[in-house]
Amino acid sequence: MKNNIIVLYNTWTGFTQRYAQLIGEALDCPVHALKDAPADLSQYDTVVFGSRLHAGVFDGWKKAQKLLIRRGAKKLVVFATGAMPNEAEDTIRAMWEQNLTAQEREAIPHFYLQAGLCYEKMGGVDRAMMKFAAWAMARRRAKTAEDEAFQSAIRQSYDISDPKYIQPIAAFLKQEN
Ligand SMILES: Cc1cc2nc3c(=O)[nH]c(=O)nc-3n(C[C@H](O)[C@H](O)[C@H](O)COP(=O)(O)O)c2cc1C
Repeated sequence: MKNNIIVLYNTWTGFTQRYAQLIGEALDCPVHALKDAPADLSQYDTVVFGSRLHAGVFDGWKKAQKLLIRRGAKKLVVFATGAMPNEAEDTIRAMWEQNLTAQEREAIPHFYLQAGLCYEKMGGVDRAMMKFAAWAMARRRAKTAEDEAFQSAIRQSYDISDPKYIQPIAAFLKQEN
């Protein structure tokens, strides 16, 4: 049976879009920005939604969830992209606990894909937020190794994305459908 999946995404600087397209290619399924999502999603067995992390928040998730359910989405799978490495497992787990309820974590398979930071494509508000984050981190006295790495990483744009990081979500979707 043909995989009946659609991938939808929000993106600001392109990382999530790139991952969404890679997932779409791996599964041979349609990929759209969330704003261009089809009006009727009931024809799909699974709707995949991807967005960035933004100050710890899975950006746009609550709004997207309402829209997807209103348009008939049945099974949801989500992925978040961010600047932290995949190895930051405790932080990633805590992030999901903050962004999805216990019930949602149980019902909605969720994946984190490391991406990076792109100051060149970032909007003014985001750039100001990053400047503030750098300032706040510089003032912090007791820094963990993770804090130090974060402080040094956010000084400039970087790209730690890789097509191979779609493997867990692509494998999951292939086996599910
Ligand atoms: C203001 C701001 C806050 C961010 N907060 C986080 C964060 O809390 N955790 C994280 O891992 N990445 C964070 N990021 C990095 C973005 O999530 C990352 O660059 C993401 O892949 C961007 O996705 P996009 O290119 O699809 O817009 C932040 C970026 C900005 C600009």
